[in-house]
Amino acid sequence: MSLLIKNGEIVTPDERYVADIFCENETITRIERNIDKVKADEVVDATGKYVFPGFIDPHVHIYLPFMGTFAKDTHETASRAALVGGTTTFIEMICPARSDNPMEAFDLWLGKAQGKSACDFTFHMGVTRYDAEAEHDFKEIVKRGLSSFKIFLAYKGAFGITDEELYAALTLAKKLGVIVTAHCENADLVLELQKKLLSEGKTGPEFHYWSRPPVVEAEGVHHLMTFAEMTGAHVYTVHTSCEEALNEAVRGKERGVNVWVETLIQYLLLDRTNAEPNFEGAKNVMSPPLRDKKNQEVMWKALADGSVATLATDHAPFDFQTQKQMGKDDFTKIPNGIPSLEDRVNLYFTHGVKGNRIDIQRFVDSASTQAAKLFGLFPRKGAIKVGSDADLVVYDPTYRGKISAKTHQMNLDYNSFEGFEIQGRPYIVTVRGKVAARDGKFVGEFGRGQFLKREPSHF
Ligand code: URP
Ligand code: ZN
Ligand code: ZN
Repeated sequence: MSLLIKNGEIVTPDERYVADIFCENETITRIERNIDKVKADEVVDATGKYVFPGFIDPHVHIYLPFMGTFAKDTHETASRAALVGGTTTFIEMICPARSDNPMEAFDLWLGKAQGKSACDFTFHMGVTRYDAEAEHDFKEIVKRGLSSFKIFLAYKGAFGITDEELYAALTLAKKLGVIVTAHCENADLVLELQKKLLSEGKTGPEFHYWSRPPVVEAEGVHHLMTFAEMTGAHVYTVHTSCEEALNEAVRGKERGVNVWVETLIQYLLLDRTNAEPNFEGAKNVMSPPLRDKKNQEVMWKALADGSVATLATDHAPFDFQTQKQMGKDDFTKIPNGIPSLEDRVNLYFTHGVKGNRIDIQRFVDSASTQAAKLFGLFPRKGAIKVGSDADLVVYDPTYRGKISAKTHQMNLDYNSFEGFEIQGRPYIVTVRGKVAARDGKFVGEFGRGQFLKREPSHF
């Protein structure tokens, strides 16, 4: 199996140049100005197009038992959507219930993806309970190829952990060289605010925001910074939504905490009015909630200057027809999540690169390379180098189109970005040297996606 991509403009965080790329079997074997005298099974003319390393989404939920239901995508529908949108690798959260056995959860999540996914994948291991038995399993799971944990400071009674458990999880992570990704919201404050709002008869989706205002998230980030400082652990704040929360992470970094920040495409382009004024707003209920519009410019700037390291999706699809309706009379029962796995790259390119908010090399860095580096996939992924996996996105910046649930690949009856214009789209997407999407159509192979084992870094 060989593939030759000719005349594209290669863009990575460090370089930008026109060259040909030759891929044999699953890897890139040559990058030169003119590669002519080779026989290739497929030749792609990339003249006038960019060639990016395959994009990496470091935060998705596919198999997700949550709030009394299950997220809608399967690994087939999710990987198809990812690939059409240019994402060639995703990192899924393993989210066991507190009573579940961690090793069984690891096997369950792996079993759901293996043999199904068309793109490569790995996991963050959810630490939703910490005791001697769980600790034993976490050590074993790291040996089996996961080098990142996920903890929740929110969702008390479900995934949330106590401070004692948080301290133990961070201490273990430091010892093993594992990075800890964290959902930062103060769980007790959320519960108290939810009770207060419901007692006042405030039941609609617009009150979700008031149960989790910025200060609740900022407190969560501050809390994590304190524990990371005390343990020396390396931490990563997922779905950071607002200036107040970002400032806590920046302050932590300034005093030496090893912290990286993730934000989501949703927070850059949607705001809290999208979760109002009637029950339609339930489509856009997620946690932390969509924020006041003024935060968008703050997050764009932070992405541009690197204080926010990565752009992810936190893809968590629940349909409007049945699942979001579970919260018809009580916003606390609306399954949380705004899916965007398919649309992240195109929206980010359109509003970031074309919108002159993000330099194209930083675009690649924040949507691909940074995640590869932080989570132990670089330079196999997130790079265009001889020896890297041939995960490539030949991107057409002249494409014009509109996002719609009528045409998207995700298994969902709505799209929060319905009607949004996109200026650019992947023309060809390859996974380890094989074309998996062509001109907006999935042409990949379900089950070909590989589980990516990662080594811990000994920080
Ligand atoms: O609302 C969200 N973010 N849903 C998915 C679960 C999580 O908190 O990441
Ligand atoms: Zn979360
Ligand atoms: Zn999440």
